[in-house]
Amino acid sequence: MQTAYEKAEEELTRTIYEKMPDDELARTVEELRAEVAEVKARGLKLDMARGKPSPAQVDISRPMLDILTSSADLTDGGVDCSNYGCFDGIPSARRLAGEFLGVPPEQTIVLGSSSLNIMQSVLIHYWEKGVPGYTPWNKLDHVKFLCPSPGYDRHFGLTEDLGIENIPVRMTETGPDMDQVEYLCATDSSIKGMFCVPKYSNPTGITYSDETVRRLAVMKAAPDFRIVWDNAYVVHDLFDEGDKLLNIHDVAREVGNEDRILAVASTSKITFPGAGIAFFGSSPANVEEVAATLQVGLISANKLNQLMHVRFLPDMDAVRAHMRKHAEFLRPRFAAVERKLTEGLAGTGVARWTHPRGGYFVSFDGPKGSAKRVWKLCREMGVTLTTAGATWPYGNDPDDTNIRIAPTYPTVDELEQALDVLVLAVKLTAAELAQEERAA
Ligand SMILES: Cc1ncc(COP(=O)(O)O)c(C=O)c1O
Repeated sequence: MQTAYEKAEEELTRTIYEKMPDDELARTVEELRAEVAEVKARGLKLDMARGKPSPAQVDISRPMLDILTSSADLTDGGVDCSNYGCFDGIPSARRLAGEFLGVPPEQTIVLGSSSLNIMQSVLIHYWEKGVPGYTPWNKLDHVKFLCPSPGYDRHFGLTEDLGIENIPVRMTETGPDMDQVEYLCATDSSIKGMFCVPKYSNPTGITYSDETVRRLAVMKAAPDFRIVWDNAYVVHDLFDEGDKLLNIHDVAREVGNEDRILAVASTSKITFPGAGIAFFGSSPANVEEVAATLQVGLISANKLNQLMHVRFLPDMDAVRAHMRKHAEFLRPRFAAVERKLTEGLAGTGVARWTHPRGGYFVSFDGPKGSAKRVWKLCREMGVTLTTAGATWPYGNDPDDTNIRIAPTYPTVDELEQALDVLVLAVKLTAAELAQEERAA
């Protein structure tokens, strides 16, 4: 049976340009080139590459900065936040971390501002010392990680930096292609891990289906195989009714695989990017072991920042109310992407894109062999996009189709202008590709 991915792929196989007679195609290319020249002359300077909130959006967290004053109570559950101690995180912050990650508070560690930093520390730990009871990864001939793609380039950078081989696995509408993942993990014990952004994935915006979550938790894999369960967008719904994600820890625990899951999240896109608090959550054994290793290099994380965060966002109701304010900024931007792409490209057979209900990105695919050219053309017209290929390990998008759209930072007006440019670049590239194919 044809998969949804293959069906969508087939829809892209014949574009309106491929169906045009030669003279009409030549005329169309000339017209589009003239439009491009006009846009170039306008000297635009727009940026659709940055996956971060706009300055006005960040401002909604400013009231948090008024919470800790010189006369404030600096204790939390009996812990003095103004001094060393309480490595695992203050009690209220661990409670919140547990709710974010779906584990009891005792199975969490609350650390500094970056979840990426936690992922790196844990991977370096396994690289050097190994998962307890197993050979350190750096002593093995070959270590591989599965990288659902399109995916998050900074994940791929963590493993690439260590010399771990990144193996791309296709993303589908329900998560990574699980037939491929199961086959690879069952047949290759050098696969030691996998990156997952299970809710509003970066950049596709899809949320893993219950079946995908179950299969990841129960599948056969090397005993020291670990899933980096990066829930960066767990509360980042655009609408009141958000996507639902199955609790992977519960499923993994039932089958004795709870050590497999290394969950992380942070408040980077909730309060202040780069100045939030970050969470780690896993099995009791992993939490104890990871805490012991991190403690070698850290006496205590910034507990005053933790305190400020939990006074501002004491529970999930407060988090959800705050996220609804974020969504007010994000909804019109995501709507602009949908509107502009639909107006410009629907029915052309030239492109498909995702329709996220949360997160920070839209994933866009043009015809085969188009993404690098589209990126360059946009650049020449004054629009910066995330580098083509960045969503695949080693920057190597095998079909050269994928572009990550980051709509959150520009104003809606800037975004609309940038999307017009993208649409024009995609049309011209698709038309030129059709012409080149005929000439070949
Ligand atoms: C999937 C994902 N994980 C992690 C991060 C970075 O998070 P932090 O600021 O907590 O390091 C990002 C930021 O864009 C992201 O998209």
